[in-house]
Amino acid sequence: MPPTLTELITLARQAGEILRTCFGQLLHVDQKGVIDLVSDADRQSEQFLLSYIHQHFPTDRIVAEESGEHSGTSDHTWYVDPLDGTVNYVHGIPIYAVSIAYAEAGVLRLGVVYDPMRDECFSAEAGSGAWLNGEPIHPSLASDLDHALLVTGFPYDIRTTPENNLDHFAHLALHTQGVRRLGSAALDLCYVACGRFDGFWELSLKAWDVAAGALIALEAGAVVTDMAGKPDFMAAPQSALTANPQLYSLLLHELVRNRVSAAS
Ligand code: IPD
Ligand code: CA
Ligand code: CA
Repeated sequence: MPPTLTELITLARQAGEILRTCFGQLLHVDQKGVIDLVSDADRQSEQFLLSYIHQHFPTDRIVAEESGEHSGTSDHTWYVDPLDGTVNYVHGIPIYAVSIAYAEAGVLRLGVVYDPMRDECFSAEAGSGAWLNGEPIHPSLASDLDHALLVTGFPYDIRTTPENNLDHFAHLALHTQGVRRLGSAALDLCYVACGRFDGFWELSLKAWDVAAGALIALEAGAVVTDMAGKPDFMAAPQSALTANPQLYSLLLHELVRNRVSAAS
């Protein structure tokens, strides 16, 4: 039996409670890179989620941020980000979430992103819609860039990669209502899904950052692709571009135009 959306919601809420309980306390923090952190809270949340999945779905594969890939014999895959927004979390900034997605034969079926600070649970089931605490959600109706509030993120290798997103950030800051950087890609996607932001893009992500939030945005009615405009945003290397259908085309055009002018 596959998991139900209700089961994923319960799981995300329980992991979120672990994060909320530890929030603001002195944590043991390790550096995975110069600016890439992992805390005890990430590890505790992931351990909780993995032990549940192993116990109830022992043949499923799991792709989890802190412990990597756990192979399985079924074609079912769980994508687990136990704490999306770690840098915010360790600084006491209350913008972070738990993100869990479930796929069958490579197709995303269920996604949940839970924000324990606001008690906001975003969820989606393929073909059935997307919800915030049980109420249906939809993207905004913004139809031009001048009225669009966007959000983006930057990669942990920002100091060394030419794909650091600073060119797009600078360009779109001058051609939109504004560009935010919240620090949680999962929430960025959900905020587009429910119309708080009009669009989101990020160049360098991982499967666990994108899976749940992207399904939620798609099911809410947004267009979600990778940065090249290709529909398979789960194909590595993952990136994401999302907005309502009308704004999406304008945003993609602007990002391509900016890339071309930077190259010439
Ligand atoms: C990060 C956040 C951030 C995004 C980074 C992600 P983490 O995830 O989603 O907003 O810009 O690309 O890696 O490390 O907090 O789980
Ligand atoms: Ca993440
Ligand atoms: Ca994480």
